[in-house]
Amino acid sequence: MRRLEVTSRWGDYPVLVGVGLLESLETIIAEGALQPPCAVVSDRIVAPLWGGSVAERLGIGLDEIPGGEADKRWSAVEALCGRWLDAELDRSATVLAVGGGIVTDTVGFAAAVFMRGIGWLAAPTTLLGMVDAAIGGKTGVNLQQGKNLVGAFWPPRIVIADIATLTTLPQRELRAGLAEVIKTAWIGDQKLLQLIPSTPDLGYRSLDPAGWEELVARTAAVKIAVVIADEREAGGRRALNLGHTLGHALEAATGYDRFLHGEAVAWGIEAVAVLAHRRGLLSDDGCARLRGAVATLGTLPPIADLDPETVCGFIASDKKRDASGVGWVLPTDDGVRIDQAVNLGEMISVVRLLQESRGKTD
Ligand SMILES: NC(=O)c1ccc[n+]([C@@H]2O[C@H](COP(=O)([O-])OP(=O)(O)OC[C@H]3O[C@@H](n4cnc5c(N)ncnc54)[C@H](O)[C@@H]3O)[C@@H](O)[C@H]2O)c1
Ligand SMILES: [Zn+2]
Repeated sequence: MRRLEVTSRWGDYPVLVGVGLLESLETIIAEGALQPPCAVVSDRIVAPLWGGSVAERLGIGLDEIPGGEADKRWSAVEALCGRWLDAELDRSATVLAVGGGIVTDTVGFAAAVFMRGIGWLAAPTTLLGMVDAAIGGKTGVNLQQGKNLVGAFWPPRIVIADIATLTTLPQRELRAGLAEVIKTAWIGDQKLLQLIPSTPDLGYRSLDPAGWEELVARTAAVKIAVVIADEREAGGRRALNLGHTLGHALEAATGYDRFLHGEAVAWGIEAVAVLAHRRGLLSDDGCARLRGAVATLGTLPPIADLDPETVCGFIASDKKRDASGVGWVLPTDDGVRIDQAVNLGEMISVVRLLQESRGKTD
């Protein structure tokens, strides 16, 4: 097991990464002097796989939320708070989220507002959750107008990343998580790219459990370093948006049902590699390394049929909404530069180039 520490103005917390951690939850809670949780929350898929057995082991109730981006909204928070009230949870209660980013974002936000804030523990069960969503204290839900528009900074008391949960994760979800691993590795630990399995199509079996443990822990360590340096997203944390400007636009342009978030980010990373290379920010070798890492993810959902101008139109509306996103994050040979201006013509030409270079064969 590896243990990382996050320092936070809302309270420091550890991130544990290891195989089979959920089986020794009681010990982890006791050794960490944590308040034992009063309820477990999972989504409909994770509940029978992992959440139910955790609740049973701890002898507490299991709440199910629907899961899915469309249900990550106020009504889920309201329903959870109602159930916690019915179960007589009070201000001193703690709850445990067992699931992917949808579950940890929703439960974390419900914990932030229930009785003006109760403690919560995060047990992420997706690769994306382990290396990204469960770390950093951002919680929230979607509005009809867009994703993650209401939320709170409300970190968990502990993050328990049990690698064993990845054994049931669908290959596509694993690959989407690997795109975020590539992004984070590029920012702060490029040697980590060598650990990424070159055959992710094999899913969990493409790496041994110790390999996953190292991959998750080292990626989480980079995210932790970035958020500690900029907890409230005033500057440096925006580095984590590498690949996300075009990624978000691709998701929006396809009605959020063609790409998993990480798959769209993978295309976005390729785009910024090309943009940065053209500007001389990224060397030939750097560009080849970054694009090579994305290529290990295999075939992504296609972009060849999309109209580049329509896709880039979504970038403008995304930027308008996100006051912090004044510019793009572009990769350099040893990290990133934030707030880089990219004009519409450049964006369109990069999308066209990607459509020609990969889109046709995908
Ligand atoms: N708070 C943050 O800083 C932050 C950062 C990144 C992403 N996010 C949010 O995270 C969400 C995406 O998270 P995600 O990719 O984990 O998606 P998710 O929670 O929807 O999980 C993906 C799918 O995998 C299933 N699943 C989860 N764990 C499983 C397991 N072990 N075995 C089998 N199936 C499993 C889920 O039921 C779901 O169908 C988005 O809403 C995004 O906005 C938040
Ligand atoms: Zn992302």
